[in-house]
Amino acid sequence: MPRHVAIIMDGNGRWAKRRFLPRVAGHRKGVEVVRNVVQECAERGVEALTLFAFSSENWRRPADEVSLLMQLFVSALQQEVERLHRNGIRFRVIGDISRFEPALVALIDNAQQLTAGNQGLTLTVAANYGGRWDIMQAVNRLRSAHGGDREQWTETQLLPYLSLGDLPEPDLFIRTGGEMRISNFLLWQLAYTELYFTDTLWPDFDAKALAKAIASYQQRERRFGRTSEQVAVAPDAASRTARG
Ligand code: IPE
Ligand code: IPE
Ligand code: MG
Repeated sequence: MPRHVAIIMDGNGRWAKRRFLPRVAGHRKGVEVVRNVVQECAERGVEALTLFAFSSENWRRPADEVSLLMQLFVSALQQEVERLHRNGIRFRVIGDISRFEPALVALIDNAQQLTAGNQGLTLTVAANYGGRWDIMQAVNRLRSAHGGDREQWTETQLLPYLSLGDLPEPDLFIRTGGEMRISNFLLWQLAYTELYFTDTLWPDFDAKALAKAIASYQQRERRFGRTSEQVAVAPDAASRTARG
């Protein structure tokens, strides 16, 4: 079982279009799918699930779609946080949330505080997130923590400042909706992640589709730069040195 699954939830708009519905109908259905996938991952013993909900580039969409997406985020938080908490899920948001409305920021803060001590699945939502932003904010925070003195930094020193730095790196990346790109999602963290792309649109992504992605992951041989023969002898040694 992958310890950490990261998903680009794509295809809501096309799902709606095929049904002659407004794009927002796809986003609404998408929220329902999130609920099911969270539950499914928790039941399967996945430790961390990271979902790309809104990229730093999604501000380029028409203003009414952006505003509807924000409203959906607000109502999903209002409706789901209690349930997440009851199920022992630890909820977090990564991304630059300073651009969100104060009411949404407050909901995010409350949800994070409420669930901070939970021991179950860590559910991270990437909102106004960009992989390049993540690396730069980590570099800048590392520099100011060390008073700006000019040292040569190491990956290990940068790690605690990166989003998700306290979690195992993603084992399985899933992108729905048929596009085969990363779209500025986790750039640093996906260095050795197994990538899985499916044409299934996010609103159609169900337990069976998730099982298929996990089964594909389980077929892969993760070598982390070593040879197949080395991995066969010491499978764990490979991943322990993945970070260098
Ligand atoms: C993903 O679905 C959701 C967000 C990016 C917020 P899209 O809205 O990108 O759906 P498509 O790609 O247009 O079908
Ligand atoms: C990526 O999807 C972002 C999210 C799913 C939140 P997009 O639909 O925005 O990606 P591009 O623009 O097709 O690369
Ligand atoms: Mg899309």
